Amino acid sequence: MKKEILNLLKETEGYVSGQDLCDRFQVSRTAVWKAIRQLEEEGYEIEGVRNRGYRLNSCPDRLTEEELGPLITGKWAGRPVFYCPEVSSTNDLAKQLASEGCPHGTLVTAERQTAGRGRRGRTWVSPKGESVYMSLVLRPKLPPSSASMVTLVAAMAVAAGLKKTAGIDGQIKWPNDLVTGGRKISGILTEMSAELDCIHYVIIGIGINVGQKEFPEELAGCATSLRMETGQPVNRCRVAAAVMEAFEEYYEKYEKAGDMSLLMEEYNRELAGMGGRVRVLAPGGEYCGISKGIDREGRLLVDREDGSREAVASGEVSVRGLYGYV
Ligand code: BTN
Repeated sequence: MKKEILNLLKETEGYVSGQDLCDRFQVSRTAVWKAIRQLEEEGYEIEGVRNRGYRLNSCPDRLTEEELGPLITGKWAGRPVFYCPEVSSTNDLAKQLASEGCPHGTLVTAERQTAGRGRRGRTWVSPKGESVYMSLVLRPKLPPSSASMVTLVAAMAVAAGLKKTAGIDGQIKWPNDLVTGGRKISGILTEMSAELDCIHYVIIGIGINVGQKEFPEELAGCATSLRMETGQPVNRCRVAAAVMEAFEEYYEKYEKAGDMSLLMEEYNRELAGMGGRVRVLAPGGEYCGISKGIDREGRLLVDREDGSREAVASGEVSVRGLYGYV
């Protein structure tokens, strides 16, 4: 009923009388009042005037089904939206929903994460209200060996979403960090449940710094936000919806080809440090070389000083000029 009241208030320019709400939804005045109070607690500004009724003055920028759902334009990516104000990690909740059978395209969002995770066991600090924290559930019809490419597809979608909603020309630090002006603005954590020959599900966890005006000292040199880059507040729901729209488009190309061949040209145009010096921390040791962009399998090609070419499938790659690598 709360959702129906909200929809009616959204559709109505002026006031809706309390009596109208009672009649339409066949509920008591107290029930209407309680629903209005709940909406106010969720951040909706509702004006109540005696003898006139209720009027919706503003909606919160929260990644809820009510606010984000209507902005999702594609067929499946971000349908449905599953919002939780506070969660350990949206990836954890997405895994739980996936193992319970939720559909391909389900998007889990949160306002705050109490145990946000980054790649390689790092922590993703996730305070309330400033960022997008979201995890997309996918059920790819591809072998497990192809799954790592999904993360590159997601990086392209984030780059497109940031461009569309904030005019930011982000660059991708292989495989999937988004950087602008040498600072990180978004990170992606991909996790998978699979057997040797089949994927059960993949979770793409995306964190985007949106509203921060500054970062704590230890992050200040290497992190930035859309607000800091544009000098303007940016709507989180619009960002999340634009990323989903782009993801659906890119993912369908990736799925059609079964690899990055339809996307690698664009990916390489957005690749940070393309043609420049990189340092690779490979399981067998560290080496330097020149970045030649990704191949159709999504591996980073690196030309070594001895003239040999490596195709890096995993590992840490430092790009000259980023995150303190000079
Ligand atoms: C990284 O750059 O190390 C990856 C960061 C990924 C953060 C996102 S926020 C939403 C999702 N939930 C998590 O716990 N992590 C990812």
